[in-house]
Amino acid sequence: MLLSGRGSNLKALIDGAAHADASYRLVGAFSDRREAPGLSFATAADIPTAVFEPKSFTDKASYEAALFAAVELVGAELVVLAGYMRIVSAASVAAWHGRLINIHPSLLPAYPGLDTHARVLRDGGDLHGASVHYVTAVLDAGPVLMQVQIAIDAGDTPETIAARLLPCEHALLLAAVKLIAQGRVTLDRELLRVDGQLLAAPLLLACAGPSKGIVLAANLDTPDRSW
Ligand code: GRF
Repeated sequence: MLLSGRGSNLKALIDGAAHADASYRLVGAFSDRREAPGLSFATAADIPTAVFEPKSFTDKASYEAALFAAVELVGAELVVLAGYMRIVSAASVAAWHGRLINIHPSLLPAYPGLDTHARVLRDGGDLHGASVHYVTAVLDAGPVLMQVQIAIDAGDTPETIAARLLPCEHALLLAAVKLIAQGRVTLDRELLRVDGQLLAAPLLLACAGPSKGIVLAANLDTPDRSW
């Protein structure tokens, strides 16, 4: 996991890993900021942490070389970006193709980049959410594996949206990582397959009601299938 700040998604994955059906193990938490509060979640869970600060390196290439060498060293098979506030270079993206995912707080391809909640409000949108996508060289534009949706309510502010969306983001990231860890997702160039079936649109995770946390497999060839 790569993070720059709070680390609530890291905490969600740590908690999720404690369950018998987790299918994954966290092998390291890495940050570009020494003071990233989220690192303490990893320390408390005995997960190795390391900090690589770009300013200690002569250029981005040497920074990322050191970072990803450390990621390799802990035996990571999947790298999760959650609140990692840097753009990964095309070279590192290529080296980790199909093994690098990001959680982004919007229904991609809508609202790539920053300030997504404020922008959806400004546009008067009534649907918002979060996406887990594979990282490509274009910012927030890689193939989307799974999304969660929330309605925008009258009177919402960026803060109320963030508060309502965050638990859904946690459920989303957990579900996506589990699916990948179970070996059910493949990426062939930009084409995603789940259980061998081409994904025509992102899987949708229910975040409320009785099916909370269940992947609604409506976007696969066999829409009646559920997990
Ligand atoms: C999340 O909202 C995530 O979608 C975005 O950055 C935030 C990270 O939160 N990319 P946290 O550091 O995991 O609490």
